[in-house]
Amino acid sequence: MIPLELSVIEPLGRVIARPWADVVTGMQVDSRRIEEGDLFVAVGGGEDFVQHALARGASAALVPADAFAALAAIAGAVRERSSARVVGITGSTGKTSTKDILHALCAPHRRTIANEGNYNTEVGVPLTICRIEEDTEICISELAMRGAGQIAWLTSFVRPNVGVITNIGPAHLEFLGSLENIAKAKAELIEALPPGGIAVVPPEPLLEPYLERSDIVVKRVDPTAPLPFATSYSAAHQLVNTRMAVAVAECLDVPLPEGVLNVEFSKHREEERDLPGGGLLLNDCYNANPVSMRAALEHLAARANGRRRVAVLGDMRELGPEGPAYHAEIGELVRALGIEHVIAVGELARGYGGDWVATATEAAAELVRVLEPGDVVLVKGSLAVGLKAVAENLGD
Ligand SMILES: Nc1ncnc2c1ncn2[C@@H]1O[C@H](COP(=O)(O)OP(=O)(O)O)[C@@H](O)[C@H]1O
Ligand SMILES: [Mg+2]
Repeated sequence: MIPLELSVIEPLGRVIARPWADVVTGMQVDSRRIEEGDLFVAVGGGEDFVQHALARGASAALVPADAFAALAAIAGAVRERSSARVVGITGSTGKTSTKDILHALCAPHRRTIANEGNYNTEVGVPLTICRIEEDTEICISELAMRGAGQIAWLTSFVRPNVGVITNIGPAHLEFLGSLENIAKAKAELIEALPPGGIAVVPPEPLLEPYLERSDIVVKRVDPTAPLPFATSYSAAHQLVNTRMAVAVAECLDVPLPEGVLNVEFSKHREEERDLPGGGLLLNDCYNANPVSMRAALEHLAARANGRRRVAVLGDMRELGPEGPAYHAEIGELVRALGIEHVIAVGELARGYGGDWVATATEAAAELVRVLEPGDVVLVKGSLAVGLKAVAENLGD
């Protein structure tokens, strides 16, 4: 982190500092991650860990008056002192993947940082910004959007030069009410761009009203354009994400790969594992909404290559009153693709058709019962359904 004087921290709450400390050189909210010279910010129940943080070498600890405001102020002070180009990524699906791809494109050529895993909230985003060093050239940060105003808050201290919206879909619909409102909330990222900033967007009519600003550059990315390099992955939706990332890399003057682009995706997305008899497990149990469910089923169909397909599909949560209709649509897709065996898990999942079970535990047992050597299995559902257990039950 670019060092900050304690005078920046002191107005934000109660500060416990070592007598010799005048600056802090990193920020953590988990005392186990503290390194020499860091600032420990006690959020949630963190106050109990102040002594632990100081014992690990923290220069100071802050018990903030308002945790989110303090984290934002600290991140804002770091951002203000940095000349890095900052890329903010939001969208209903594909934020983390697009971040991982963009990081893989930039890191060989520029001093680049990107958020860890899925860090994308009022806590995770400041942690990312506070990893910016004096010589950081590019900072990539995913920005969550679960309601109106969240992106405006995050961008107030991220101050992105480039804003990426991966897509607009019915994720967290119950909090926003309509797709139009989802587009509006995501467009807070476009509003936050400075004059001369760059918006990288898909051809999405719902976003057009927000792209009329004449003082920014708008890049509309064709999701089907050919890629000028090969990739270590093949899923169609990841190639779409790659085109978005390439558009950003081009804006940042980062040269594109000459050989194959290798990307290591974050955990529980697109994990592939061999199953007995030439079978394959596609473990994608981290989350699900109608956009990603559709992409995953199409990927299953393409990846199976003639093998029998089994889909263990959990509820897609947080869709509000439209939930049952979206589940019924996925049911239609399952039939159109001719998926041979479906295990539907959870109340809403009844809409998929196939065999129905109430819980992930039952789904795990049912899968073991129906699985045949050589099957290709997709496991996908909202995190709360707990389908991780289904994949784990198949062993390593
Ligand atoms: N462009 C896309 N279109 C549809 N589904 C996608 C897309 N990108 C990723 N996915 C799928 O959506 C899920 C979440 O992906 P992730 O990259 O973690 O997105 P986010 O960070 O927005 O939640 C995964 O199942 C992934 O395979
Ligand atoms: Mg994410």
